[in-house]
Amino acid sequence: MKQIIDPYPGVTARPHPAKFSDSILEAMADMIPEDVQTIVDPMAGVGKVLHLASEKRPFNFICNELESEWAVQITQRAAQNKTTAGTYRVDVHVGDAATWRDERIGHAGSMVVTSPPYGNRMADAFRSESRPESMKGRYAGELGRRLTGGSLASLGFGPAYESTAEAVFANIFRQMHKGQHFLLNVSNFIRKGEEVDVAKYYAALFNKYGFVCVGSREVKTPRARGFGANSNARAPFEVLLLWRKHPIDGVSAE
Ligand SMILES: C[S@@+](CC[C@H](N)C(=O)[O-])C[C@H]1O[C@@H](n2cnc3c(N)ncnc32)[C@H](O)[C@@H]1O
Repeated sequence: MKQIIDPYPGVTARPHPAKFSDSILEAMADMIPEDVQTIVDPMAGVGKVLHLASEKRPFNFICNELESEWAVQITQRAAQNKTTAGTYRVDVHVGDAATWRDERIGHAGSMVVTSPPYGNRMADAFRSESRPESMKGRYAGELGRRLTGGSLASLGFGPAYESTAEAVFANIFRQMHKGQHFLLNVSNFIRKGEEVDVAKYYAALFNKYGFVCVGSREVKTPRARGFGANSNARAPFEVLLLWRKHPIDGVSAE
């Protein structure tokens, strides 16, 4: 049954600088376990995750996003995507993933699929007086205002980024049950000539909360090195890591 909840009627859509690319979506579709019926994306941006659904593999979606100008586009996308909107359910919630709760995250048949901000230059602060082109490709610049408090997209990789990321991920991990899957898309990047190992940070975080890695892929995307402006500041590929909550509990943050 079709049921779409418009999170913020009247909100104006704004461009988003870091959406899932087609090559990532294609690789992710191959990694979704057979028994999955519902996909949860706690940092859903403009909802490109919805394109994981096809005639052959329709899914229900539960999406959360902090910025309403981006979340509103998930609802619009759901309405345009016949496969998803016609048969299955798409729920959109606007809020901080560090405190968001939804009991369906832990249902059998649900899995989490998400891509966090990576802590690269896209996190630059909003400067209203700056030239608009200098804010292009940045989260705040594209949104046209300061990011909402609690946003991981406002933080460069470092201690504050790590503690905010842990608050977000631990909140989702706690709502999952043993045996459930989490598909993570991340990428390293180059800062001052050095590769920042974002993937290694997330691998340690998932291990700490009792997840085991059961699959991985490296995917070339338009964001990766060799494509477009500043391409030397980018890692050569993005990473997909499929995690399973281990039958033996890891650290419980509760
Ligand atoms: C890499 S983007 C995701 C893009 C998405 N995969 C798509 O294709 O549209 C990461 C998103 O996380 C959101 N975000 C950052 N911190 C958040 C938080 N604490 N709670 C919820 N969303 C958050 C940002 O606003 C941003 O839209």
